[in-house]
Amino acid sequence: MQSKVYQVLTLLLAGFILTCCDPDDPDGDLTDLRYDPTPLDLSVPAEFPPMTSPSDNPLTEEGVLLGRKIFFDKLLSADFTMSCASCHDPQLSFTDGLAVSLGIDGLAGRRSAPSLLNIGFDPHGFHWDGKFATVEDQALAPIEDPIELHNTWSQVEERLRDDEEYPALFRTAFGIENKSEISRDLAVKAIAQFERTLVSSGSSKWDRWVRGEYDFTDEEFLGYSLFFDLEDNIPDAECGHCHNPPFFAIQEFRNNGLDDVNDPMGFADGGRGEITGEALDLGKFKVPTLRNVLLTAPYMHDGRFENIDQVLEHYNTGGAGRYRHPLMRPLNLEPLQLEAIKSFLGTLTDEAFLTNPDFQDPGL
Ligand code: HEC
Ligand code: HEC
Repeated sequence: MQSKVYQVLTLLLAGFILTCCDPDDPDGDLTDLRYDPTPLDLSVPAEFPPMTSPSDNPLTEEGVLLGRKIFFDKLLSADFTMSCASCHDPQLSFTDGLAVSLGIDGLAGRRSAPSLLNIGFDPHGFHWDGKFATVEDQALAPIEDPIELHNTWSQVEERLRDDEEYPALFRTAFGIENKSEISRDLAVKAIAQFERTLVSSGSSKWDRWVRGEYDFTDEEFLGYSLFFDLEDNIPDAECGHCHNPPFFAIQEFRNNGLDDVNDPMGFADGGRGEITGEALDLGKFKVPTLRNVLLTAPYMHDGRFENIDQVLEHYNTGGAGRYRHPLMRPLNLEPLQLEAIKSFLGTLTDEAFLTNPDFQDPGL
């Protein structure tokens, strides 16, 4: 449904650009174009809570379209080689398939790009350490990060103002009267609107099972029982305490025993502690969603595990280090039980999310 609105809007804008205004018009006046944004009602799977947007940035069709175009636009990077989507690829559930991300200069960051699936429901902060409170604030960062897009916002603002299409899109999304009003604040609002639309389709086996439309196979059911500790005669794999439905995450930072560190100052990456300044938060990281997890290898904040088997082996040993969470203990599961957990994780795969036409490069 959104796509149709985009098509109509695209035609209108094309007409506007051809007939109404010279994009090189030095006064940059945009008031001939109507500003009448269409509120967007997100449809979310029945078991999800409602999503709230900040009151100064409600979702509109026009805002989302603009944000989507910016998200995929390589003009964000200094040398026009990368966009947000270079590291957050829709086909990989908005990750990049790398252990740690590489920026435009080929420099490696220290962390792995997280999936942006259901990001708009996430109330507890963004990045592995929760450094940013909102997606709007987060979106300011990659542009100027020297190991990401390595540009300056004033350069990006200039490129957006000088572009043939952006002035009209900013007008229809935010009602600006002149292209000189295009700003980083409006650009990140638009990006954030697009990001909030990145919601599960509700067609994974798990979601269909929740609605009574799918029966787990025996193996999936065993994995489910292990994951959530459902039956007395089946061991507790503890996963569900930290990876809780519907998002298969919790709004907390935890140490899942990745590093055998017994002095809090010894973590190579301090994680949450770098933000709070609390020694006891060092080595804690955001609990990531497990939806689409079989598509987002490598795993963990530093991409240390190449595949899901290595992750399960890690949990089976209980991890290490004296600051690890008490739920991290040796599980001693049999290979067949680990396979069953893997099958259960497969029920969280949402193919329709990957191919949703509204999440691809709009090609405008
Ligand atoms: C060079 C690769 C790269 C580029 C380009 C990039 N990102 Fe990221 N993104 C990352 C990495 C790596 C992280 C994790 C950073 C951390 O935790 O310190 C991240 C984290 C995020 C998060 C937080 C996710 C969460 O679950 O907490 C959001 C949202 C995000 N990026 C959006 C964007 C947007 C919007 C853009 C474009 C303006 C962008 N990214 C450009 C690599 C990239
Ligand atoms: C004590 C809380 C806790 C428990 C219990 C737990 N996890 Fe995690 N999980 C985390 C945290 C925290 C991370 C991120 C850690 C990091 O990157 O530093 C994580 C990361 C993961 C990842 C990597 C995701 C990604 O995108 O990189 C997978 C897969 C995973 N967990 C699966 C499981 C499974 C399966 C179980 C049960 C066997 C489980 N977890 C039990 C807290 C937990």
